[in-house]
Amino acid sequence: MSANQEIIEKTERYALHVYNRFPIAIDHGQGVQVWDADGKVYLDFMAGIAVYALGYHYPGYDQALIDQVKKVLHTSNLYYHQPLADAAKQVVTSTHLTGGKAFFTNSGAEAIEGAIKAARKYAYLKDGRNDHEIIAMKDSFHGRSVGALSVTGNAHYQDPFKPLMGGVKFADFNDLKSLKDQISDRTCAVIMETVQGEGGIYPADPAYLKEVRRICDERDILLILDEIQCGMGRTGSMWAYEDYGVLPDILTCAKALGCGVPVGAFVLNEKTANQSLVPGDHGTTYGGNPFVLAAVNAVFSLYRDHDIVGHVRDLTPCFEKSLDELVQKHDSVLCRRGKGFMQGLQLKETCPVGEVTRKALDLGLLIISAGGNVLRFVPPLIITKEDIDQALTILDKCL
Ligand SMILES: Cc1ncc(COP(=O)(O)O)c(C=O)c1O
Repeated sequence: MSANQEIIEKTERYALHVYNRFPIAIDHGQGVQVWDADGKVYLDFMAGIAVYALGYHYPGYDQALIDQVKKVLHTSNLYYHQPLADAAKQVVTSTHLTGGKAFFTNSGAEAIEGAIKAARKYAYLKDGRNDHEIIAMKDSFHGRSVGALSVTGNAHYQDPFKPLMGGVKFADFNDLKSLKDQISDRTCAVIMETVQGEGGIYPADPAYLKEVRRICDERDILLILDEIQCGMGRTGSMWAYEDYGVLPDILTCAKALGCGVPVGAFVLNEKTANQSLVPGDHGTTYGGNPFVLAAVNAVFSLYRDHDIVGHVRDLTPCFEKSLDELVQKHDSVLCRRGKGFMQGLQLKETCPVGEVTRKALDLGLLIISAGGNVLRFVPPLIITKEDIDQALTILDKCL
C-alpha cells in the first residue's frame, strides 16, 4: 500500500468524516510547492485556503517561531506579553482605524463571534434593548460556529442546525434596495465580506459599499467587514476596503494573519472599542498566545520588508490576463471575477468544478472550488509569472 493510501485509510478509520478530502496526504512544503507522502510534487494555488500568503518556509518566518518556542508558548490572557503588545499595534495600525483596538482569536469563526458580541453590546449600551438585529448577506460565508453560521447566508450549511441565533435578516449582496428593506430601528449591524469568497468570488460594487457605509453612518449601525479570506494583501491592498475608500466599524481577519498558525482577530474602531466589550464580557484561553502572535509579528515585518502587497498589485494584470485567455479559449468557462490574487472562473454547469480540481490534482496542481461551480484561485501571494504560466498550462489541459 502506498504511503498516501495508508494515511488515508487510517484517517478515515478514526477521524470524523466531515470533509470529502482530496486523495493525497500532504507531507511538506517549500516555497509555493508541496509534496505528498509518496513524494509527488504539486504547485499550490490554494495555499491552505488563503492561509499561506508567504508560501512555505518564507525566509525569516520559521526562525521567528523557533525563537518564540524557546521563550514561552502560552501565558493565558491574564498576563501581558511582548508579542501581544507588538501584534495589536501592527494590526490596528494596518487597518487605519485610528484609536481602534484588536482582540485575537483562534480562528475566523471566533473573530465573527466576537464581532457579533461587540455589535450587540454597543447597541445595548445605547438603548438598553436586547432585541437588536443584524443584517447579513445571502451567499455569504462567515464560519461554522453557531453565531457565525447564523449570519452565513447559505441554507445548505444552516438548515440541519436550526434553530440558530435569532435576530438575523438576510439581504441580497450588492443590492441596496434589498438592504434598505431589511433595516429597522432594531438594526445594530450590517455584516458582509468585502469580496465574497466561498459564495463564488463576488467583490462588493464600489458604489454599493460606499452607500452602505453612508446608511450605517446615518443610523449609527455598525458595519462589520469580514476580510478573513480577502484581507492581508490578497486583493492588492492590505485590506480590501482600502480600495473602496471606506472603513469598517469592525474588521474581522484570520487565515493569512498568521500564515499557517491558528490565529484570527477582530478589530473595533475607536467608537466601538470605547462603548462595547469590557472585562468579563469576552475572553479565550488560547487566543492570541505568544506563539501565534510571534507569527503575526513576523508576517507583518516580512510583508513590509518585502513589499508583498506591492507584488500582488504588480502581478495582478498578468494574472488576470492569463485567466481571461482561458475564458476566451474554453467554452466551458463563462467569465472571470475577482480582485488581485483572489479570482474565480465561473464554469458552465456542464463542466463540474469538482472534476476540474480533481484532474488538476492528477496533473500536479492544488486548486479548489467555490460555491456555484466556480474555480477559486487563492494562491500564495509570492507566486511569480512562471508559477502563473505553469498553473494555467495545467488548467488549460484540464478544461
Ligand atoms: C470570509 C470568511 N469568514 C469566516 C471564515 C471562517 O474562518 P475559520 O474557518 O477560520 O473559522 C471563513 C473561512 O473560510 C471565510 O472565508
